[in-house]
Amino acid sequence: MYSEKVMDHFSNPRNVGEISDANAVGTVGNAKCGDIMKMYMKIENDIIVDVKFKTFGCGAAIATSSMATELVKGKTVDEALALSNKTVVDALDGLPAVKLHCSVLAEEAIKAAIDDYKQRRGEKTESHECHGDCPHCAHAHHHLPQNE
Ligand code: FES
Repeated sequence: MYSEKVMDHFSNPRNVGEISDANAVGTVGNAKCGDIMKMYMKIENDIIVDVKFKTFGCGAAIATSSMATELVKGKTVDEALALSNKTVVDALDGLPAVKLHCSVLAEEAIKAAIDDYKQRRGEKTESHECHGDCPHCAHAHHHLPQNE
């Protein structure tokens, strides 16, 4: 049911933890299952020099976040914003259809962290800033309060 890569990233997740001096932190929740994801980044000159995540989530959420952090590490903020959950799922050789929603958590957590980074710098954030009104939000997930 799960690919070898998914099993590897689930059993051996990369980049788990916190970054104490992170300058980008995003927390998102998945309303469908109640799972929570928190993403920490250290960004220097618009390059993601370090990234870590913590999740209260299922195995698919752990595996996709692990892969997503690997994919954005060393990348620019814009490159990370362009990362879709589909790219992450493809990099893991696929996920069962019923678990595809889990991969959205990683993508949204990355975007939330970068929004936080931009807000701290006084920059305008992109339209993906969540107000709970995007098409997929209504049935899939929503941002949690930042103090979560
Ligand atoms: Fe909640 Fe997978 S079941 S993220």
